[in-house]
Amino acid sequence: MSSALKFHFTDFTTTVNFRESLDFSLLEKQDTLTVFDENTFSLFGRGAPNPVILPAGEQSKCWENTDKIIQSALRLGLGRDGRMVGIGGGVICDLTAFSASIYMRGCSLLLVPTTLLAMVDAAFGGKTGINILKFKNIAGTFYPASEVRIIIPLLSSLPAREFKSGLAEVIKTAMVGDAELFTLLQERREQVIAAEPALLEEIVARCIRVKGKIVEQDLKESGKRAILNLGHTFAHALETVTALQQWSHGEAVAWGLIMALRLGEGLGVTDNSYTEVVHSMLKGYNFSLDIGEGSARGLLQAMDADKKKQGKNLRFILQRGIEDTIALAVDKKVVGDFLKREVKNAY
Ligand SMILES: NC(=O)c1ccc[n+]([C@@H]2O[C@H](COP(=O)([O-])OP(=O)(O)OC[C@H]3O[C@@H](n4cnc5c(N)ncnc54)[C@H](O)[C@@H]3O)[C@@H](O)[C@H]2O)c1
Repeated sequence: MSSALKFHFTDFTTTVNFRESLDFSLLEKQDTLTVFDENTFSLFGRGAPNPVILPAGEQSKCWENTDKIIQSALRLGLGRDGRMVGIGGGVICDLTAFSASIYMRGCSLLLVPTTLLAMVDAAFGGKTGINILKFKNIAGTFYPASEVRIIIPLLSSLPAREFKSGLAEVIKTAMVGDAELFTLLQERREQVIAAEPALLEEIVARCIRVKGKIVEQDLKESGKRAILNLGHTFAHALETVTALQQWSHGEAVAWGLIMALRLGEGLGVTDNSYTEVVHSMLKGYNFSLDIGEGSARGLLQAMDADKKKQGKNLRFILQRGIEDTIALAVDKKVVGDFLKREVKNAY
């Protein structure tokens, strides 16, 4: 197993430890509150100290559950030196981290991500958040966990679609910051799809290093961190117009990556040969990159409502090539015309 990785984010230090199994005997019972969703509790919850068990799914990232966690911590008598432990996918990680960040103005936080997406992205880097009304992550804080514990064997029960969703973020991370990882994903596709543990550990560690290096320079996303959003402006718009029903986040991200590269081509930023390489990688991992018929206007409106807009422009993360990423403000009309060309029978 890899040795621990350590990152410094302004006032916070996160240690990422790789372990073979989840061992609750290492946690002080009195001072620990564990948080699960129903699935992760039934899979991994045996022996967990003071568990709070919440419904699975995005709708669990809400005030009511934050309140539930905080009330449970109070009933337990958890002090500031006590610890909240989130054991689950990105939903449980975001929610537990948000609760820990506001409980007594911040208590200790350990995250044990159980989805690939949470291992490579959600559990690490300090963004916490809950959804309010239909707005995702509209309340949140920057509060990196003191420890993220990565236990690759926990992924063995993960449904294939969730695994694939995490792979889209892995591919994005490779594009942004690790050309060697990109090559590994190209050359060892079958072993990746077969989820070979040692290979997965290397992939997760590489993604964490890329993200950690960027977030160490810009915890609060005032600059460089935004490059990690490659593909996400398109992805969020697609998720919004399809009401989060049809496409998993990863599937939307895969489409978003290609859209970002094609938009870059149209603006003279991206070379077509690079788009083709990424396209063939994503197809190789069975991502459908065709959203069928759709509303170009709907997508544009969804982008317009996105937090990252700037006046009559929309802000995109684009690439000149691998590990060469830029942020660019693009006129909404140019984006609208692009979407009309890209989306089949656009209306
Ligand atoms: N904070 C960040 O930086 C950041 C980054 C990316 C995504 N996110 C957030 O992450 C969330 C998505 O996370 P997700 O994709 O992990 O979804 P999720 O947490 O909803 O998990 C997906 C499903 O898999 C189940 N599950 C989890 N681990 C399992 C396992 N090992 N075996 C079997 N089933 C398992 C869950 O119960 C759930 O039903 C979104 O809310 C998103 O906003 C946050």
